[in-house]
Amino acid sequence: MCGIIGYVGKRSALPVLLAGLGRLEYRGYDSSGVAVGEGKGIRIVRAAGNLLRLKEKLAAEGPPEGTWGIGHTRWATHGEPSVSNAHPQRSGDGLVAIVHNGIIENAGALRKELSAAGYVFASDTDTESAALLLHSLYRALGDPIASFVAFGRRVEGSFAIAAMFSDRPHEVYGIRRDSPLIAGERDTECFLASDIPALLPYTRRVCYPEENGIVRLDRDGLHFFDRDGCACECPSVSVSWDAEEAQKDGYRHFMRKEMEEQPRVVRDTFLSCSEEACPLTEEEICSLDQILITACGSAYHAGLSAREILEQLVHIPVRVEIASEFRYRMPLCSSRALVIVISQSGETADSLAALRLAKERGFKTLALVNVRGSTMAREAERVVYTRAGPEIAVATTKAYSAQLMAMYVLALHFARVRGCLQGDDLPLTQAARELSFGISRCLQGEEQMQRIAQQIYQLHDIFLVGRGLDHTVCMEGALKLKEVGYLHAEAYAAGELKHGTLSLIERGTPVIGVVTQPRLACKTAGNLAEVKSRGARVVVITTQEEAVFAAADEIVRLPRVHPLFAASLAVIPLQLLAYHVGVLKGLDVDRPRNLAKSVTVE
Ligand code: F6R
Repeated sequence: MCGIIGYVGKRSALPVLLAGLGRLEYRGYDSSGVAVGEGKGIRIVRAAGNLLRLKEKLAAEGPPEGTWGIGHTRWATHGEPSVSNAHPQRSGDGLVAIVHNGIIENAGALRKELSAAGYVFASDTDTESAALLLHSLYRALGDPIASFVAFGRRVEGSFAIAAMFSDRPHEVYGIRRDSPLIAGERDTECFLASDIPALLPYTRRVCYPEENGIVRLDRDGLHFFDRDGCACECPSVSVSWDAEEAQKDGYRHFMRKEMEEQPRVVRDTFLSCSEEACPLTEEEICSLDQILITACGSAYHAGLSAREILEQLVHIPVRVEIASEFRYRMPLCSSRALVIVISQSGETADSLAALRLAKERGFKTLALVNVRGSTMAREAERVVYTRAGPEIAVATTKAYSAQLMAMYVLALHFARVRGCLQGDDLPLTQAARELSFGISRCLQGEEQMQRIAQQIYQLHDIFLVGRGLDHTVCMEGALKLKEVGYLHAEAYAAGELKHGTLSLIERGTPVIGVVTQPRLACKTAGNLAEVKSRGARVVVITTQEEAVFAAADEIVRLPRVHPLFAASLAVIPLQLLAYHVGVLKGLDVDRPRNLAKSVTVE
């Protein structure tokens, strides 16, 4: 993934492609490239790093002049950010060039099959499997649309693809499934893009090809085809957004947009972590006698949730330490311990120092990171990647959800290998797989959270209480309320309230109880009754039966979910609440004060 642009027209394609990529830069990327039709071929230029590097390379090599082409900014998913992994990817003889957003889930199987048929791979990307598959289909069928129809039937996963064939001058093709791709035209020019901002300078009328639909751009305009290759209509829609609104997909803030992306991100992370080989061998997993997780901020909270799950599923002792503390302690760990560092950016100074310390001490290290090629990804012995894509809002939402999911998959795998799952683990795997649906439903509860935000945004303090996994969710919710809502929020283990904190509960003090663990529900209900009797206004976020919560002034219902994975759902209303508190206060929720996206200082 990240940004796609395509053009067919009468003027030189390159400036249009580069300008389009420039307008998609906000999404974040680590390499870029263009393919431009030239005489009887396709010329491809790619560079690692930012667009400036690509422009320098183009200037040095002499810019291609053709009037049709495709371009891409890449956020690495399969394979490191490098020239060979950048898009466009092409087939060996240069017949096909494609750029791709999404994940080809059966890339491994396709790679095997195509290699056996004599194709040679030159990158680590899943995209190259798609390019070579398209090549082989086009060679066999001789028609681009028929080839795309067959392609859609063979490929599993999500994709938005722009493609060119060297023997089809002045034509660019697009196909999409579960990943955005739009097309537009102006006079004799046609455009293709993954996002609206890239098209805004040319047209405000855009067409959204249907799921599995195909589009051809040529000198006569746009031509749409359905999944079976039959020509179809694709009415254009008028876009009234300005460039900034378009970058946010019409949402007011990146944070809100990224929250909405969580179902997809969680699904992608489940798929990629389930399919990619675990970086530890079975022998290594069996030999572990302890796991130590270290991280900062939200990643630390993801680690706390992971502890509950690992201990319950894998029956292994797990310690979780804040990285800035861990790095100055003398951690006593067994020599058979695994140290897991969790980080969205892979650059956080304290987490990096913790990783280096763990390596120095000779522990096995595993980094769970979102950014390919980041320092932690390079320095840790083993890496697992989350699939959150670039996160622009400073406050993390989707990357945190992806971290939880990656840890679920890791825990399930460890449990399976160590023989801890008595009998069938399918229901658990199925429950993890279906979390994305639950998250979508939680996001639909926005109105209720907006109303609750109205009630609390002018207050000074709020408490969030829960036990076990619910407490870890409270910690994440409290951090969100502090960082984007500037509201003093304290997360408390519900049973600990009576050891001092109850003195702060007065008439009207808001207390949010998170209750998703059946075996702890009555206990937390008792603690909520204690705060209620002291005048607190109690909101309960729960998967449990309403009757248990006589103390609740308001109940936020969550869809039913396996208790082990409930954190993924319970955090959503808290993210929504924090977001709306920030919005009601008129704050810049995407760029909260005194915070940086990647904290590279100690
Ligand atoms: C909270 C937040 C921070 C980060 C923390 C670690 O919304 O964004 O607390 O979670 O700075 O950052 P990474 O995960 O990049 O190591």
